[in-house]
Amino acid sequence: MNSSLTEFPAYHRLPGSLLRADAHTLEWSDGRQVLDLYGGHCVNTLGAAHPGLGQALNRQWQQLSFATNLVDHSTREAFLTAWRALLPDGDWQIFLSNSGAEANENILKMALSATGRSKVLCFQGAFHGRTAATAAVSDGQSGFPCSPFELERHPWGCIPDIDSSVAAVILEPIQSLAGVQEPPADFLQGLRQACDRHGAWLLFDEVQTGSGRLGQPWAAQYFEVMPDAWSTAKGCAGGLPLGMSLVSAAQASKVPAGLCGSTFGGSPLALAASTVVAEYLSHQKNLLHVRELGTAFHKLAQLEGVHSVRGAGALIGICFEDSITAREAQQALWQRQILTGLCRDPQVLRLCPALNLPLAAVHTLRTALEECVTSHQVGLS
Ligand SMILES: Cc1ncc(COP(=O)(O)O)c(C=O)c1O
Repeated sequence: MNSSLTEFPAYHRLPGSLLRADAHTLEWSDGRQVLDLYGGHCVNTLGAAHPGLGQALNRQWQQLSFATNLVDHSTREAFLTAWRALLPDGDWQIFLSNSGAEANENILKMALSATGRSKVLCFQGAFHGRTAATAAVSDGQSGFPCSPFELERHPWGCIPDIDSSVAAVILEPIQSLAGVQEPPADFLQGLRQACDRHGAWLLFDEVQTGSGRLGQPWAAQYFEVMPDAWSTAKGCAGGLPLGMSLVSAAQASKVPAGLCGSTFGGSPLALAASTVVAEYLSHQKNLLHVRELGTAFHKLAQLEGVHSVRGAGALIGICFEDSITAREAQQALWQRQILTGLCRDPQVLRLCPALNLPLAAVHTLRTALEECVTSHQVGLS
């Protein structure tokens, strides 16, 4: 036998390997204990190894480990009840898949099908996933030779001309990868009105902004603008793969049944985990804590070397002065046992920690950033 197997080099990884994770601490194989301000890229909503979530998974495994989507089961009812309590007023339907890209793909497909139109509008800086449709509406190299539908990309913050050829406008309410770019005042409201005038669907990609990350269950509530449909994934099941496509019941009635489907989507295990997340978010004090985290992160704007702080709740971009790059800051914090993230803006360090991160962790970050600047570990470039 003469074979080899190595991983396709899709990722640029941190040095060393991760041994285990507990709540907000990552233990590296060399014994380093690292404060996790990246939360598995918005996935570990309740931190790693959350005991309640673990117990729910264990119970679910014993009771019903997997079932085809052709049968119903009590786990689904518990899931629907838990998430229903977090929805904006109105009648909504949900379709379940496994990832953010799938969740976006499904709301795009519903809008194209329901309107019978062929064009989608999207925005510069956007990231919506890596499948053919979601890569097309993302900015940058899609890796596909052509888009599956007509496409127009517009500058972030500008309300495009919409006419009766437009099926949908898709956007992240806060563009995360672009540098935690918040929507300018009245942008979302203006898009809502423009879509209403021409019968186009307004689609929110809430893969990052959803599941309580802004201190409200959804960005739609945070910004008080209701889309026709929205997606979420990442943190909605606290570490298990789950994609949700939520659509207003009125719009869903125009979509042919059978347009969507999935083998694994909404598996009993993912639903059991997701129910724990929804129940956590149903306590106002937990959402209040996320807002308090956001307030504490925003106070870092007072630090020397920091230009501004963007975002809300637990989706935060720390924008450094020109003399400091986010990569330098990330490396300096890594040496102080703190894990943070980067994005496409070289000045912006991205944080998306667990929603139950203690406020003391923000103080730890503040002290570390102060040390990095005063010791000139950053800011020499
Ligand atoms: C805003 C946004 N949308 C969609 C996706 C795609 O999600 P997934 O990787 O689960 O397909 C991501 C992933 O980073 C994302 O950040």
